[in-house]
Amino acid sequence: MNKCLITGAAGFIGFHFAIEMLKNDFHVIGIDNINSYYDKRLKESRIQEIEKFKDKNNSLWNFFRGNIEDDNFLDAIISKYKPKYIVHLAAQAGVRYSIENPKAYINSNIVGFSNIIDLCVKYNIDHFIYASSSSVYGGNTKIPFSEDDPVNHPVSLYAATKRSNELIAHSYSHIHGLPCTGIRFFTVYGPWGRPDMAPIIFANAITNKKPLKIFNNGNMFRDFTYIDDVIKIMFQLVNKKPEKKDKLIQNSADPSKSWAPYRIFNIGNGTSIALLDFINLLEKELGIEANKVFENMQLGDVERTFADTKSIKSNINIKPETSLKEGLKKFVNWYKYYYLN
Ligand SMILES: NC(=O)c1ccc[n+]([C@@H]2O[C@H](COP(=O)([O-])OP(=O)(O)OC[C@H]3O[C@@H](n4cnc5c(N)ncnc54)[C@H](O)[C@@H]3O)[C@@H](O)[C@H]2O)c1
Repeated sequence: MNKCLITGAAGFIGFHFAIEMLKNDFHVIGIDNINSYYDKRLKESRIQEIEKFKDKNNSLWNFFRGNIEDDNFLDAIISKYKPKYIVHLAAQAGVRYSIENPKAYINSNIVGFSNIIDLCVKYNIDHFIYASSSSVYGGNTKIPFSEDDPVNHPVSLYAATKRSNELIAHSYSHIHGLPCTGIRFFTVYGPWGRPDMAPIIFANAITNKKPLKIFNNGNMFRDFTYIDDVIKIMFQLVNKKPEKKDKLIQNSADPSKSWAPYRIFNIGNGTSIALLDFINLLEKELGIEANKVFENMQLGDVERTFADTKSIKSNINIKPETSLKEGLKKFVNWYKYYYLN
């Protein structure tokens, strides 16, 4: 049975991905420090859901609480289980919090990342997959955002740490031949989502009849990507590790055009939705009108995200398909079950 280690397994994407891997008969080893960046009870509930799934299906699942900054902790787990794959999702997420608490980003996203990638080399991991972010496109205005575009102007420390991860991974891929796939996620939403992101913040404001702050006076657009679509693509990517190529293709800024076994993909829906349209749909699903308050743009934020999905489509022949209406319906069903019961 193939083993896969998932960091950030109590997180939104890690939780869904762990269940998908268990469904597909992988032995999954999860790591998470269950930190208090957002409500720990949600992270604990996700772990309980994985445990329930494991018990029902006799799956192989081991979970460890600890910090990825602690390389002895990681080494002990990786040397014991010798996973074939490492899917690295643990990180300090969030754009705005990186202004308040920059250290958390350096510790988890730089020190933690470098510990994990070092151990990938030490234990000869077959394929290292890690989370980057659409935020690396920073101040870019050309849309849609393509992997081919230069990404040299991050507007938050969070984005800078994610871009650093991509660059560190390239050097390891070149020096050690480590197959690395980086994923630039675009605003992932759905059941068991993150309370620091728009869908839950907005749903809380709407259901509690509190003011719903809309930044940049509503002139904001996001490429909302439904979690099941993301997980489907990630699963396909696991078994498709990048190969070495003969040479660098010089006339392309696409990081995947390297000689190294290395590539980066956008995972986004490929549509840029106006935040006000998003809120409108959410109001309809919840059956309550929002009390909208318009505010200025926040530091570190970008006005628009929009993924070019050609590269992922041409590599694995699938792209996200779930419409926002369909995805929000499923999100609201879960929100009611989890928060309003
Ligand atoms: N959800 C999105 O829309 C989105 C968009 C772009 C990028 N990403 C990236 O995808 C990955 C997963 O995101 P998510 O939405 O599931 O976030 P999440 O915050 O729900 O999950 C991250 C998990 O990592 C854990 N963690 C953080 N620092 C740790 C540390 N030092 N040691 C051990 N565990 C630690 C947290 O407790 C959390 O459970 C992250 O790397 C994030 O930056 C997510």
